[in-house]
Amino acid sequence: MKTILIANPKGGSGKSTLSVNIAGYLASRGQRVAMLDLDRQQSSALWLSMRPQNLPPIRPLDEKKKHGQENDWLVIDSPAGLHGKNLAYALKLAHKVVVPVAPSLFDLSASRDFLQQLGEEKASRKGKHHIGVVGMRMDARTRAAQALEHFLSTLDLPILAYLRETQVYVNAAFEGKSLFDLPPYLAERELEQWAYLLSWLEKD
Ligand SMILES: Nc1ncnc2c1ncn2[C@@H]1O[C@H](COP(=O)(O)OP(=O)(O)O)[C@@H](O)[C@H]1O
Ligand SMILES: [Mg+2]
Repeated sequence: MKTILIANPKGGSGKSTLSVNIAGYLASRGQRVAMLDLDRQQSSALWLSMRPQNLPPIRPLDEKKKHGQENDWLVIDSPAGLHGKNLAYALKLAHKVVVPVAPSLFDLSASRDFLQQLGEEKASRKGKHHIGVVGMRMDARTRAAQALEHFLSTLDLPILAYLRETQVYVNAAFEGKSLFDLPPYLAERELEQWAYLLSWLEKD
């Protein structure tokens, strides 16, 4: 089983949105997907509980039956403020770490220490390419995107995608759906923006 951790200690950066859409994508590819929601707000768990039965299934990770449950992927949504031992534990479990960053000075500065820590973690794993950043609600041609790229260039962490701000995510979530459960014409632009991120996730 491969584990994808979605993390950023800043609240509202887009962790839950990214988590449910990544899980939805993998399920849409016929993979066996489980989700673990470590956040007390339980956003992803709520989404999962609303997911229509006729869509590709995603299971909540059953910690008690961990060894009996056969999954190809585990997607972990994490809380704001994840740090210290809990963060170290989550990082150890994860094969891939995806960090959403929202487009503002405050978001970038609040994510800075965390990204620095991940940069060091990456260096310590001798260049294993397993950590990437997603510009959330962000357009590549904005000042926020420039600032993010400038900062990341010093850390050798890749930008996997810029995902624009759109009600498509919000509306899908109300129905327990991801982008990948929608008729393609409703999410055409979004799907394009996801292409590189998805290939990165499936790369070993
Ligand atoms: N690309 C997007 N377009 C529109 N709204 C978004 C997008 N990404 C996140 N949001 C909204 O931003 C808010 C915070 O996102 P959320 O995924 O809950 O962040 P976190 O889990 O990090 O706290 C939510 O209201 C969510 O619907
Ligand atoms: Mg959340």
